[in-house]
Amino acid sequence: MKMVLLLWILSVISSATLLSTGSLALSEDGLTLLEIMSTWNDSRNILANWQATDESPCKWTGISCHPHDQRVSSINLPYMELGGIISPSIGKLSRLQRLALHQNSLHGSIPYEITQCTELRAIYLRANYLQGGIPADIGNLSHLTILDLSSNSLKGAIPSAIGRLTRLRHLNLSTNFFSGEIPDFGSLSTFGNNSFIGNSDLCGRQVHKPCRTSLGFPAVLPHAASDEAAGKFHLKFS
Ligand SMILES: *[C@@H]1O[C@H](CO)[C@@H](O)[C@H](O)[C@H]1NC(C)=O
Ligand SMILES: *[C@@H]1O[C@H](CO)[C@@H](O)[C@H](O)[C@H]1NC(C)=O
Ligand SMILES: *[C@@H]1O[C@H](CO)[C@@H](O)[C@H](O)[C@H]1NC(C)=O
Ligand SMILES: *[C@@H]1O[C@H](CO)[C@@H](O)[C@H](O)[C@H]1NC(C)=O
Repeated sequence: MKMVLLLWILSVISSATLLSTGSLALSEDGLTLLEIMSTWNDSRNILANWQATDESPCKWTGISCHPHDQRVSSINLPYMELGGIISPSIGKLSRLQRLALHQNSLHGSIPYEITQCTELRAIYLRANYLQGGIPADIGNLSHLTILDLSSNSLKGAIPSAIGRLTRLRHLNLSTNFFSGEIPDFGSLSTFGNNSFIGNSDLCGRQVHKPCRTSLGFPAVLPHAASDEAAGKFHLKFS
């Protein structure tokens, strides 16, 4: 009898120790979110309840999970004055469907690893200070419906792989420093100038601006002899 009591006391003590040391460990997605938070400057302390001692991140500010497996489905933190960068760790959130970080102060590049989040449906990164290009493998995100990268400092060519995104319904690349010809291919052919405005070095059918060959000739001949085309011609050859 004494022995049973002793064992019982021991088990109570050990389970209490387990709880107090937080041995019910935070899920992998939770650990990943803490890595992502570690590269952010959260000056308003919005993320105070992102605690390593929790078991699950599903009740953390801005986080939603899939109901069955408790994997992270959404990061929703717009207008939070978040600074810092988007950590490449984002690629480990393999069931992420929505990333909404618009209207913050994030800088650095869009990490290539985001293309590993193959369930992504919506990416909202409008109005930050993001630099660099669009990862070409973004064309692998076959569920992507919304891609809003407007009002950043992104540059380079628009990857034709975006044209492979057959479910894309909303695209906004406006007010960046993109350049070159907008590929007139697949879903990229379905968007008009409102998706591209404010990138002065872009050309192509979608922005009603013919691209020119290296000789200065328009690649697509304008219908009427446009003054602009004539001007360029004289500059090059006079
Ligand atoms: C974090 O953000 C605040 C306010 O935006 C800023 O004053 C501070 O310098 C930033 N800190 C770092 C380390 O970037
Ligand atoms: C994207 O798809 C291409 C072609 O299928 C593949 O080679 C590449 O590894 C994929 N990228 C990612 C990040 O999964
Ligand atoms: C955008 O295109 C529409 C029609 O396609 C045109 O009416 C409008 O003037 C264009 N805006 C700019 C800024 O080019
Ligand atoms: C894209 O964003 C710009 C500026 O943020 C806005 O003026 C434009 O209407 C947007 N275009 C679309 C297609 O939503």
